[in-house]
Amino acid sequence: MAEKRIPLRIAGVGYGLPKAVVTNDDLTKLYETSDEWIYTRTGIKERRVVSGNETAIDLGFEAAKNAIEKSGVKIEDIDLVLAASSAPPQLYPAIACHIQAKLGIPNYVPAFDITAACTGLIYGLQIARGLIGSGFYKNILIVATDNNSKLVDWTDRSTSILFGDGAGAMVVTRAEDGIDDVLALDIRADGSIGEYIYMDMPGQTCPLVEPAEQKDCHIKMNGREVYKFVVTILPKYIEKCLDEANMKAEEVDYLIPHQANQRIIEAMQSRLGYDDSKVISNIRYYGNTSAASIPIALAEGVENGKIKLGTTAILCGFGAGMTWGAAIVRLREGIC
Ligand code: ACO
Repeated sequence: MAEKRIPLRIAGVGYGLPKAVVTNDDLTKLYETSDEWIYTRTGIKERRVVSGNETAIDLGFEAAKNAIEKSGVKIEDIDLVLAASSAPPQLYPAIACHIQAKLGIPNYVPAFDITAACTGLIYGLQIARGLIGSGFYKNILIVATDNNSKLVDWTDRSTSILFGDGAGAMVVTRAEDGIDDVLALDIRADGSIGEYIYMDMPGQTCPLVEPAEQKDCHIKMNGREVYKFVVTILPKYIEKCLDEANMKAEEVDYLIPHQANQRIIEAMQSRLGYDDSKVISNIRYYGNTSAASIPIALAEGVENGKIKLGTTAILCGFGAGMTWGAAIVRLREGIC
C-alpha cells in the first residue's frame, strides 16, 4: 500500500514590484505601435520595469519578506529555498542563494533555482509538495522573480510589448492540522516544441579557434503558436485537476491564471463558464511577469478585495519549454 503523503499548507503569499512604469504610449517612442494595437491584442496598458541597481533579486527579496511575514514562520525555521526564474540577473549564484543571504536564512539551508519559465511557481509547488510530503523538509520558501525587461529586445515590438518585471513568493509548510491545501496538481513539459519561446545564451567562441561573432541573446517567441498551443492544451489539464480533486468547475471559487495575454485568460474563462468575478486578471497593469504573475495576481487580488479567503482557486500556467501546469488549491484566511 502506498504511504500517505504529509499534507501541505500554503501559509503565506507576497509580492514585490518595481516602481518604474512604462505605458503603451511610452513604447511608441521606440517603434511603430499604438496603445490600441497592444491593448486590443493583449489586454496590457502598462508594465513595471526595474531601474538603477534594482534586479529580480531585490524584487524577490521583497516578495519573500511579505510572504514570510504573513506565514508566521520564523526565518530560522525555513529549511529550503527554491527560486523560479527565467530572466535572472546572474546565471549563478542562484537567485535562491542570494535571497537566502539577504533574508538571513541560516547559511547552511539548501537553495536552488528552477528553470520552468512562466510555469515556475507551479513547478516549485510540486517540488515542495513532494519534499514536504515525504517528510524531508518542513518549511519551504518558493520565490518566483524575473527582470524580463533586461532580456527582451527593446527594438522588437512583437515581444517587448508583452513583458514586465515583478516577483511573487509563497511559504509552504507541513499542515499540522492534516488539511491539505493542494487538492490537485499536475505539471508537464514538451521539449519538442521548445522553439516556440527561447532565449539563446551563445556565449563567445574561443578566438584561437574561430573569429569572434556578435550573437543575439534576447527572448524570441512565436506568439501565434504559443497562443494556439496554450488554448488547446491548458484546459485539458485544468479538467484533469478538477477530476483529481473530485470537483466540478463551478465548485471552485476563482481562476488565477498566468497573465500572458488577456485573450488566453478569456478563452480559459469561457471554457470554465466563469463570470468575471471569478477570474483574476491584472495583466492590464503589469504585463507578463513570468512565473511571478500567479502569486502577484493572488496577493494583489486579496489586497484589493477581489479575492476572498477561505476559498479555493485554480492556478494555471505555461511557458518556455514548453512547460505547463495547473493546481487546485485552498486559500486559507490570513495567507496574504
Ligand atoms: N504594434 C503594431 N503592430 C505589431 C506589433 C505591435 N506591437 N507587433 C506585431 N505587429 C504586427 C506584425 O508586424 C504583423 O504585421 P504584418 O502582418 O504586416 O507582418 C502583424 O502585427 C501581426 O503580427 P502577429 O505577430 O502575427 O500578431 P498576433 O495577432 O499573433 O499578436 C501577440 C501577437 C499579441 C504576441 C499574440 O500572438 C500573443 O499574445 N500570443 C501569445 C503570446 C504569449 O502568451 N506568450 C507567452 C509569453 S511567454 C511566457 O509566458 C513564458
